[in-house]
Amino acid sequence: MSHPAPALQSIPSDLVSLADYRHYARQHLPHDIYEYIAGGGADEISLKRNRNSFEQHLIQPRILRHMTEGSTRSELLGQTLRYPVLLAPVAFQHLAHPEGEMATARAANALDTGMVVSTLASTSMEQLAATLEGPKWFQLYFQQDRDFTLSLVRRAEAAGYSHLMVTVDAPLHGIRNRAQRAGFELPPQISAVNLIDRPPLPRKVLEPEQSIVFQGMMSEAPTWSDINWLLQHTRLPVILKGVLHPDDAVQAKQMGIDGIVISNHGGRTLDCVPAALDVLPKIRECVGEKYAILLDGGIERGTDIFKALALGANAVLIGRPQVFALAVAGALGVAHMLRLLREELEVTMALAGTPRLADINADCLIDA
Ligand SMILES: Cc1cc2nc3c(=O)[nH]c(=O)nc-3n(C[C@H](O)[C@H](O)[C@H](O)COP(=O)(O)O)c2cc1C
Repeated sequence: MSHPAPALQSIPSDLVSLADYRHYARQHLPHDIYEYIAGGGADEISLKRNRNSFEQHLIQPRILRHMTEGSTRSELLGQTLRYPVLLAPVAFQHLAHPEGEMATARAANALDTGMVVSTLASTSMEQLAATLEGPKWFQLYFQQDRDFTLSLVRRAEAAGYSHLMVTVDAPLHGIRNRAQRAGFELPPQISAVNLIDRPPLPRKVLEPEQSIVFQGMMSEAPTWSDINWLLQHTRLPVILKGVLHPDDAVQAKQMGIDGIVISNHGGRTLDCVPAALDVLPKIRECVGEKYAILLDGGIERGTDIFKALALGANAVLIGRPQVFALAVAGALGVAHMLRLLREELEVTMALAGTPRLADINADCLIDA
């Protein structure tokens, strides 16, 4: 197999959309790593749904409106966002580029965009916090040991992260057939550096009638009571990532969780689940107008962001496109990718006749 091309130092003139980054990334990543990043769970029904769900809505533009007061600024959980877009937590970014998460952080700074740093980052959360100038959030995966989980929270607080995003939809890996077929394995030089002090897992001997999933892997998975415990142990706002059911969203709100991310983890965990966009309107209806809702999965266009906002999201997260852009052109690529999305959102708002984010609502859409 041929070696992947090194990251570009400038942006080619035909690289003009996020889908172009996806195409280019194939040349800049080894095949197994590309498949690991691009792939989803099992038959990738959730993954495909993430893109298809956006196509089921069309924008109903209005004409001849004043646009000069237009703005994409908004307030989200105590922070001002220039654009309603954050970089999603993405593990092991050294897979995509030798500078890994540090390059993404520099791009986030250049574009004044918030970054959510993964528990499974391949750069330390302290180094990233020291680099990040804009909104910096920490994504927490519960660990098998509460003391160690709390130590991660304390490190995030001490490093200056302002929000905790707790991911709850991936207590174990989905069925990742595509990555398996490509023979993907994490290279030995890349690791979850934030977890190096993790106490070794106690050796558990299962009885023959016990299940490796239920009594094994899931025995340490967090439950609602762990989330409650976390709320009592941090003053940072807590956002739950991976909500798809309206009742879970209502429970989160009632427990005092500050906001949710509607997400199917980019179609990488359970297959055959709805896209976030499919369940967004019902969840918004159930939690009320004021509750903070973020959404991710399949966003590749300014029109996608517009549709998510129209159906009730306050902001969106960008997952794979950031890693593809990182592989193609490092920090420059990520910054360019974010710039493309911003321009597309502004052009969409201008042409749809909605100068402010508050003007974007369900009346702006019709079913395809
Ligand atoms: C390679 C890769 C690694 C990811 N790592 C994490 C992670 O460490 N923590 C997490 O909460 N989500 C993780 N996600 C999920 C993203 O945060 C996000 O939910 C998803 O990628 C959004 O879909 P999109 O890729 O279509 O934008 C990862 C996604 C990808 C593609």
